[in-house]
Amino acid sequence: MSVSTKRRCLAVLLAAGEGKRMRSATPKVLHKVAGRSMLAHALTALAGAGAESIAVVVGPGAGDVAAEALRIAPQAEIFTQTERLGTAHAVLAARTALARGYDDILVAFADTPLVTAETFAALRAGLAGGAAVTVLAFEPENPAGYGRVLLGPDGGPDAIREEKDASPAEKAIRLSNAGVMALDGHIALALLDAIEPNNAQKEYYLTDAVALARSRGARTAHRVAPEAEVMGVNDRVQLAACEARAQAAARRTAMLGGATLQAPETVFIAAGAKIGQDVTIEPNVVIGPGCEIADGATIHAFSHLEGAYVGPGANVGPFARLRPGARLEKKAKVGNFVEIKKSHIGAGAKVSHLTYIGDATVGAEANIGAGVVTCNYDGFDKFQTVIGDNAFVGTNSSLVAPVKIGEGAFVGSGSVITRDVAPDALALGRGQQVEKPGWAKAFRAKKTKKKGD
Ligand code: UD1
Ligand code: CA
Repeated sequence: MSVSTKRRCLAVLLAAGEGKRMRSATPKVLHKVAGRSMLAHALTALAGAGAESIAVVVGPGAGDVAAEALRIAPQAEIFTQTERLGTAHAVLAARTALARGYDDILVAFADTPLVTAETFAALRAGLAGGAAVTVLAFEPENPAGYGRVLLGPDGGPDAIREEKDASPAEKAIRLSNAGVMALDGHIALALLDAIEPNNAQKEYYLTDAVALARSRGARTAHRVAPEAEVMGVNDRVQLAACEARAQAAARRTAMLGGATLQAPETVFIAAGAKIGQDVTIEPNVVIGPGCEIADGATIHAFSHLEGAYVGPGANVGPFARLRPGARLEKKAKVGNFVEIKKSHIGAGAKVSHLTYIGDATVGAEANIGAGVVTCNYDGFDKFQTVIGDNAFVGTNSSLVAPVKIGEGAFVGSGSVITRDVAPDALALGRGQQVEKPGWAKAFRAKKTKKKGD
């Protein structure tokens, strides 16, 4: 990538598809693969290939697509393609960006989310090597429906023929166009403007840029990608196939990175999750977006994590839920049926059973008993609970926030704590126990007598 990063690159990401076959109220490119929108996958890969400028072409009224693009790539420019007249027409919607003059133009499809940064960089490398157009090709199991890549005597593509325009001999060719391509930025606009809709679909085909470049004496090149990398998504079956591929890759990365996945096929890993060395992940675990699992941590079965940091040697689950902002320090323990949200759990602290910790800080080595609840919400606002190092909160206590439990303090079981507790103090906030000697025996006697009557 070092050569190509010196060249200035504009990526044009086509996201104007209607996605009818998704049968969804959500635009197709906002559907998620590995917990991240397809649009975000493409933007991330393009940025990874060194595209310094990004133009996103959206359909009319696609405000939410534009918003997602700007969330991921705040510097992106949004262009609207008002009529869908073909892929070349879509690229030309970004005319003002193209006209600025770049060395490399990358064209990508937002509904083809698994193309890697390395592959985009390889297309740019083709341009750096002197080609005017570099095509991403693949050899599909079944090429029906794809444009075929017709290679010339020099080994570079002469043309791409869409299925609907192909002769029987051309249809017999397996090498197909993935859709993604790189164009020499100094002639891209001239090539695109020369494309005419002389074809079966009366569309402006981006793929015609190849034959046009050839007719002007320019060189063309192609790179071949695995079919699974270039799979496009048109319906939910293909979305699931894409997800399966993304998951297989994420699990493999985690395992090769030194994590043990006991039943890999049951573990979901979101894109961008960081999983350290000697991490053990038991079956049926979800590692959602924004998670980081440090070295030596264990995630027991049936745990669900999102936006959580699990520190070195920490233990989570089984059946634990870590919500965004949960941060477990070294060797902390979060056990079964525990939910943690926006809270910091100190090193060695234990929250072992049936507990809700939200908007809280739990000090190092503190022990939170079964059934403890931080009452963090009054229906309008959220409040903080601060629990000091080495504190002990007895079983089934309610901590009504805002409240502080001092270092080393002790909260008796079943307490409702509404005021701060001083360090090393004992706080009891529960009804006094009343005892009536012999009452039970008398009660039983009375009841038995009645029955005998
Ligand atoms: C395209 C390629 C074909 C390739 C195939 C790979 C062309 C002419 N053909 O065909 O060679 O094998 O992809 O999947 O490029 N789009 C717009 N505006 C438009 C038209 C398309 O934004 O006016 C977007 C679509 O949303 C989609 C992408 O461009 O993301 C490809 O368009 P699509 O109509 O699916 O092209 P194919 O016919 O599949
Ligand atoms: Ca398509």
